[in-house]
Amino acid sequence: MKTLTLTRPDDWHLHLRDGDYMRAVLPDTAKRFARAIVMPNLKPPVTTVALALAYRQRILDALPAASSFDPLMTLYLTDNTRPEEIIQLNQILTVKAVKYYPAGATTNSDAGVTDLARCAAVLEAMQATGTPLLVHGEVTDSAVDIFDRERVFLERVLTPLAVKYPSLKVVVEHITTREAAAFVKAAPAHIGATITAHHLLLNRNALFAGGMRPHHYCLPVLKRETHREALVEAAISGNPKFFLGTDSAPHARHTKETDCGCAGCYTAHAGIELYAEAFEAAGALDKLEAFASHHGADFYGLPRNRDTITLVKEPWRVAADVAYGDDRLTQFRAGGEVGWRLAL
Ligand code: NCD
Ligand code: ZN
Repeated sequence: MKTLTLTRPDDWHLHLRDGDYMRAVLPDTAKRFARAIVMPNLKPPVTTVALALAYRQRILDALPAASSFDPLMTLYLTDNTRPEEIIQLNQILTVKAVKYYPAGATTNSDAGVTDLARCAAVLEAMQATGTPLLVHGEVTDSAVDIFDRERVFLERVLTPLAVKYPSLKVVVEHITTREAAAFVKAAPAHIGATITAHHLLLNRNALFAGGMRPHHYCLPVLKRETHREALVEAAISGNPKFFLGTDSAPHARHTKETDCGCAGCYTAHAGIELYAEAFEAAGALDKLEAFASHHGADFYGLPRNRDTITLVKEPWRVAADVAYGDDRLTQFRAGGEVGWRLAL
């Protein structure tokens, strides 16, 4: 049987939610990944170091005693974030970055930034301290076609930002377009990007395959095949600017299967296995370890993990749906097969 052993990977972009929902999904990530950058878009959002530390403690309390999973926390940037918060963040080893959601861009982003100009003092402090800004790279202008919102964001927001703050560390999160891959590739070494497994595996046809597919709806929305191909090329290129971030984003099934469904795909149940599928399909399994286990740690200036995981090429069936607190969760590929399995 074909097996693949890699340095244990990290997930550099993850939604864990809170309370019973968090307890339902956390084991999937903790089984596979050593660390994860945990997104702050709770209700209310995690806007201060104190809130981030309290959230981290709730995650740690939910882990089995034997688990060494290390949640790395982020702050949610608002128009009112104070530079003092950045100073404090840099004194706390487990809070790693600041997340920038343009107000209204995605799930729980209402408190996000309305105009980056309002954050100038905070961005200065971040640049001075080497604090990474994690960017949801989509404009919210409803006049811009939804499939163009990432590309337009690069032009309108990211390019000027990189000029104004020439040494600000930036991660362009969950890139979905050829243009974003090219932007990051051409940018200096302190600008990187995460890529999800679902954006490597699917193009926008998956949203409408035989009918509406709410469980393939996420933001940024899936794009054309040419974009998927460019993302695969970036992921398998060996370029250290590109690294794994699942953007696993659980939503109760009834909130996706409704007339105005939530954005987000839940992939943590196969969080590394789906990447193995994508890399294998591209004939580049040998490039998976660097993308999943080296590049992100190097970018964040953290040690690479010392232990390993092993994947086995053996298909398994994903449950039709699973418990999610008092609700149900439809996982990516529900009812279908994943080609690789984690050896326990
Ligand atoms: C994320 C969520 O549900 O929190 N949804 C998504 O579609 N990716 C938010 C985000 O990362 O945009
Ligand atoms: Zn996300």
